[in-house]
Amino acid sequence: MTHVTRLCCALLALILSPAVVAGPAVSPKVKPLMANTVGPASEAVFAVARAAPADDEAWLAVEKHALTLVSAGKTLKKLTPAADAVWRRQAGLLMENATAAAKAAKARDAAGLNAASEAGFNTCAGCHQTHPVNP
Ligand code: HEC
Repeated sequence: MTHVTRLCCALLALILSPAVVAGPAVSPKVKPLMANTVGPASEAVFAVARAAPADDEAWLAVEKHALTLVSAGKTLKKLTPAADAVWRRQAGLLMENATAAAKAAKARDAAGLNAASEAGFNTCAGCHQTHPVNP
């Protein structure tokens, strides 16, 4: 294969890869933030749909995880790809719903916590639809 053909193939592969087609490049900081922080913290918050926190310790843990999600949302906002309205909106909604979840946990309000958790769940899919996971 000539040098030029090889270069063309590489460019074609890049153009066809879903991450590139999907939109602006995403910061390499996003993946570890999702895997190490957003994933585990949100699982702990979403778990309240199965069972409300049983004691003070469990309520405090949920509140802490929700606050972790608020700060992750803040970080995500800073990592917004240029001119990406969906990203900005979904990161903002994640912060809003996580803040509501933390407040509900502080108030020991199981119904409020459930509602905020469900709304928070939708913010994940809202961003992942336009920003698929890179291999
Ligand atoms: C503002 C956009 C945005 C929001 C909101 C968002 N994500 Fe993500 N998420 C991403 C992007 C972009 C990737 C892919 C990053 C990559 O592959 O480089 C990702 C990847 C992931 C991954 C895969 C990590 C890995 O190891 O491959 C998990 C798990 C994840 N997100 C969970 C969540 C959960 C749970 C929520 C909601 C609580 C959420 N995300 C909200 C943008 C977002």
